[in-house]
Amino acid sequence: MRIIKIFDTTLRDGEQSPGSSMNVDEKIQIAKQLVKLGVDVIEAGFPIASPGDFEAVKRIATEVTGSTIAGLARAKEEDITRAWEAIKDAPQKRIHTFHSTSDIHLKYQFRVSREEALKRSVEMVKLARSLIEDVEFSPMDATRTELPYLVEVVEAVIEAGASTVNIPDTVGYTSPVEFGRVIKAIKDRIGDRAVISVHCHNDLGLAVANSLVAVMNGAGQVECTVNGIGERAGNCSMEEVVMNLATRKDFYQVSTNINTKEIIRTSRLLTRITGIPVQPNKAIVGANAFAHESGIHQDGLLKEKMTYEIIKPEDIGLKQTELVLGKHSGRHAFKERLRELGYDLSPDEIETAFKKFKHLADQKKDIFDDDIAALISEEVSKIPETYSLLDLSVSAGIHVKPTATMKLKVGDRIVEKVAYGDGPVDAVYKAIADVTETKSNLLKFEVKSITGGTDALGEVLVSLEEDGKRVRGQGADTDILIAAAKAYINALNKLAARKSPGNV
Ligand code: KIV
Ligand code: ZN
Repeated sequence: MRIIKIFDTTLRDGEQSPGSSMNVDEKIQIAKQLVKLGVDVIEAGFPIASPGDFEAVKRIATEVTGSTIAGLARAKEEDITRAWEAIKDAPQKRIHTFHSTSDIHLKYQFRVSREEALKRSVEMVKLARSLIEDVEFSPMDATRTELPYLVEVVEAVIEAGASTVNIPDTVGYTSPVEFGRVIKAIKDRIGDRAVISVHCHNDLGLAVANSLVAVMNGAGQVECTVNGIGERAGNCSMEEVVMNLATRKDFYQVSTNINTKEIIRTSRLLTRITGIPVQPNKAIVGANAFAHESGIHQDGLLKEKMTYEIIKPEDIGLKQTELVLGKHSGRHAFKERLRELGYDLSPDEIETAFKKFKHLADQKKDIFDDDIAALISEEVSKIPETYSLLDLSVSAGIHVKPTATMKLKVGDRIVEKVAYGDGPVDAVYKAIADVTETKSNLLKFEVKSITGGTDALGEVLVSLEEDGKRVRGQGADTDILIAAAKAYINALNKLAARKSPGNV
């Protein structure tokens, strides 16, 4: 059976989602999980884009083994040498270079002729090939490129040494029947001289459908992102394309190297790290994807699961029950649960997380997977703590002016502050803003309960912006005001970390 390669671009195209930027340690966590998931290629970033991007790709190339690590480069000499510098230490590596080919891009954006675009593409593939064996080329905006010219570029770059030609639907413009024809035309022309890859954006909601039809017409690699994150409406969703191929193997007659049991863990880890939620009705990984509400469906399911269930929840790694630990659970059980949840923490990080868990278990009887994930997200993120919360008390009520009294550690100073606000959260945020002298704007403030009950762990997510840089902060606690303070401080720490070189 034909194996379709899964090329994951969560850390590159996915990171282009508004508000989803991750720091280097977070990217490493995701990359390690992608290896467990079994992706063939991890596009780790765009090394020339910034020193932070370079550093992230370099560290992934050195620390993450088991998948090919790709670095993106425009068809420019400096991009290609920078990408090579970043990935050269990886045991399996790839340079992915691209040049636009549509007349719209060539005329209005790059102001070069078709001949010039073709010449640069060929020269840059040759340059990349002089450094590395595995070279992928993308004719950007391929689906708005005249087909004969697209085929000419594809043949020329294969001749120059590209072993994968990726056909991007950059603006999510194509539709399944049309895209199938394009892929077939390319396949008929190039045969097995190179792998055809597809890279579909979801502007019209067709990224997964377009990728599947491409597979049917000879594509051997699909580029996608976890939870479908990405610029604008996102990219082809990894879990959807993979589960289509797995569930309808009878129809597609292909397989992938993905261990589908790692899907839910990967999805949750990404949500936790980026703070980008998954819509509840999203296929495969949405909270309601396996929830059957109607009486007729429930009746059928009780008699025979096959009546209404086409995917077993266990196949994507969902457990029957997620009630895991309580006050009396020991270190061993906790460590085991972390491992099952996909966290790869050092002994020190486990110890800190265990202390937090014990503290939570004193406040809350049942600890669920989501509680644990929320608790240890700070450990995973490893943001240097420029600011940390030492103490907080708040008074508020119908006849009391909301007042926050706060003690913060700023570097090695301890600062105390009292602030008043329109409400308790406002008072807390005014105190923090005063102490940290932040110039950032608060763009979004969300509160959610991680699990049920009045003792539920509350999670607060905030988005801040400063000098065009956006960050998301999160904080969890059974006291929602403490969670709010932690989230704001976490975001401010991320902004501070971004100001120091080497961080993204
Ligand atoms: O969407 C696109 O065209 C891209 C290329 C860089 C492959 O992301
Ligand atoms: Zn893209």
